[in-house]
Amino acid sequence: MKKNIVVIEGDGIGPEVTKQSVKILDEIAELFDHEFIYSYQLMGADAIDKTGNPLPDKTLEACKNSDAVLFGAIGHPKYDNDPTAKVRPEQGLLRLRKELQLFGNIRPIITYPALAHLSPLKASRLENVDFIIFRELTGGIYFGKKYLAEDGSYASDDCGYSRSEIERIAHLAFHFAQKPERRKKLTLVDKANVLETSRLWRKVVQEIALQYPDVAVDYMFVDNAAMQIIINPVQFDVVLTENMFGDIISDEASVLTGSLGLLPSASVGTGTVLFEPIHGSYPQAAGKDIANPVGSILSAAMMLEYFGLTTEASLVREAVSWSLTNGFVTKDIEPVNFYFTSTLGEMISDYISGKIPGSVKRENIELRKSTII
Ligand code: IPM
Ligand code: MG
Repeated sequence: MKKNIVVIEGDGIGPEVTKQSVKILDEIAELFDHEFIYSYQLMGADAIDKTGNPLPDKTLEACKNSDAVLFGAIGHPKYDNDPTAKVRPEQGLLRLRKELQLFGNIRPIITYPALAHLSPLKASRLENVDFIIFRELTGGIYFGKKYLAEDGSYASDDCGYSRSEIERIAHLAFHFAQKPERRKKLTLVDKANVLETSRLWRKVVQEIALQYPDVAVDYMFVDNAAMQIIINPVQFDVVLTENMFGDIISDEASVLTGSLGLLPSASVGTGTVLFEPIHGSYPQAAGKDIANPVGSILSAAMMLEYFGLTTEASLVREAVSWSLTNGFVTKDIEPVNFYFTSTLGEMISDYISGKIPGSVKRENIELRKSTII
């Protein structure tokens, strides 16, 4: 199979984690005789520095003409700490989502028993947690009218949703809930006791639910959902929600897994599909080779699955599980005996190519272990 992939490394730790995914994709291509052709493009703070534009036209064109986009991370402290900045890195990602019509962001939340000790929750609450968040990505308060009074004394952001915006993501989530491996349950997270937009979400979802009689639907206010994710996460199967609530609860849910660095995501819609880890640019770690590449590597696995390469995707996931269960992990997970980003990427890639047997003896690769920096 031949695929054209746009790689946007982006800001902060984006480049170093994305390099590991590309390494994995290369290994898969070699092993299964595929051809992945990469086109590297700029976006975010990096693009502002080099071109003055967070999403240069060239990047957008390349994305539109590719089979998939692999994206690293976006954001830089120099903009975070300057609320008056007119051009911001995040504008690049938001515009790309809009231009590619990526209206659904899919974030799977799975827990690994080997990492249960890292979660702030009791291990017993994490057993069998496996849910997936469908976050609406191109509407709501993120894209509403923004206003700042000239004298700086007042600001507002509009939150609006059209019926069709709700319908398309709801169908996506319901279809997913029907999959044989799912538990056929969908939870709509909203704030229908207060917000008009949430009431429209509820109405539309109630109507659509009639077309999916095998899926049980429940409705939960976002404040309660924030609590339920912590006290009883196993109750969730497919979670459907609007843009801002999805942004917040997906970071919250990531804590269950032990580290934000582990989680992948896919953004889907009518245009090219984009794959990215859910973590941010983590500027404090940039260039230190300590960031967790797993979120990005699992995003690459989601990309392989999207290409229909399920065996290849499973192999990547198996390699990641192997590394986590054997303690081959980065500093966010094991602050003392950790492996560097690039070392872990190489080990996962070696596992895929069969250079490391599954029943590896820890001592044998001890030499490749990192030193503490
Ligand atoms: C995410 C991020 C983005 C968002 C930022 C970087 C604009 O937090 O993908 O979750 O808020 O959507
Ligand atoms: Mg976020």
